[in-house]
Amino acid sequence: MPIEATDDKVELISPENPNTKVSVLLYGATVTSWTIEGVEQLWLSSAAKLDGSRPVRGGIPLVFPVFGKSSAPGFDQLPQHGFARNSTWELLGQIRENPPTVQFGLGPEQANKEVYSKWDNGDNDFTLLLTIELKPDALTTTIEVTNSDSKPWKFNWLFHTYLAVNDIDDTLVNNLPGETCYDQLLAETYEEKAPAIDFNGELDRIYQNVSCEKLLQVIELGKVVHNVERRNLPDVVVWNPWTKKAAGMADFEPKDGFHKMVCIEPGHVHDFITLEPGESWTASQIIRKGDAIKLQAI
Ligand code: BG6
Repeated sequence: MPIEATDDKVELISPENPNTKVSVLLYGATVTSWTIEGVEQLWLSSAAKLDGSRPVRGGIPLVFPVFGKSSAPGFDQLPQHGFARNSTWELLGQIRENPPTVQFGLGPEQANKEVYSKWDNGDNDFTLLLTIELKPDALTTTIEVTNSDSKPWKFNWLFHTYLAVNDIDDTLVNNLPGETCYDQLLAETYEEKAPAIDFNGELDRIYQNVSCEKLLQVIELGKVVHNVERRNLPDVVVWNPWTKKAAGMADFEPKDGFHKMVCIEPGHVHDFITLEPGESWTASQIIRKGDAIKLQAI
């Protein structure tokens, strides 16, 4: 204590409250559950595969080295969202007792060979270091990407976070008006005019270059349910599959489960980051409890 490791997963348990804990699958280093005093904060499909047969539907899958599908040279053979979410990471160990903090690593040796070989023909030497820290009121996930190669290469990063909500019909996401948005469903770029994002159908948008000073809040019936802070993650994908898309995903259950989730996905996806040999890039997502509504104009 306060961490418990088995062959396929690790649990971090808060020394302050045994019902505040986070569970991380080695497969994808995917956070599959995070509870605060027994209340689940993330959404996980009841049909999610946790056996390594496919990326986990729910929790916090990790997206690297490409977001979505790309036709860019070196990325065009990769499946959607790359290979970090379908590789088995190595548990490097616990680096702090309190707050409980663990690290996971992934390099070419651990990476899912079949998928990794599709990124620049499997020719890029890289090191990913994921640090997960559990505080009584917050979960921080930090990624460090290092170029261990003798040539530069490029990548995207994104935390594909499925946040739990009580009812998507009552849910708003604030602090995005005025931001540039690429709507993946319309294939159009526009300026967000709505004072807050609401949900009444499938929604799949990339908000680009949103200042990390901006807090993103998920608000239900006037109450803040999640605060999402970002460090060095300028883009925010907001996604809800709604009825038809959920129906088409075999691992999305229950089918009306889209009422219980919203994906707020901090990343760097509007362009590729280039890392020179020996260089590193670091970024964090912090999801925090907190009641105060904070409105930040552009
Ligand atoms: C989101 C994308 O990040 O991930 C969506 O914006 C996509 O377009 C969704 O549908 C889920 O992707 P996947 O590969 O997990 O089904």
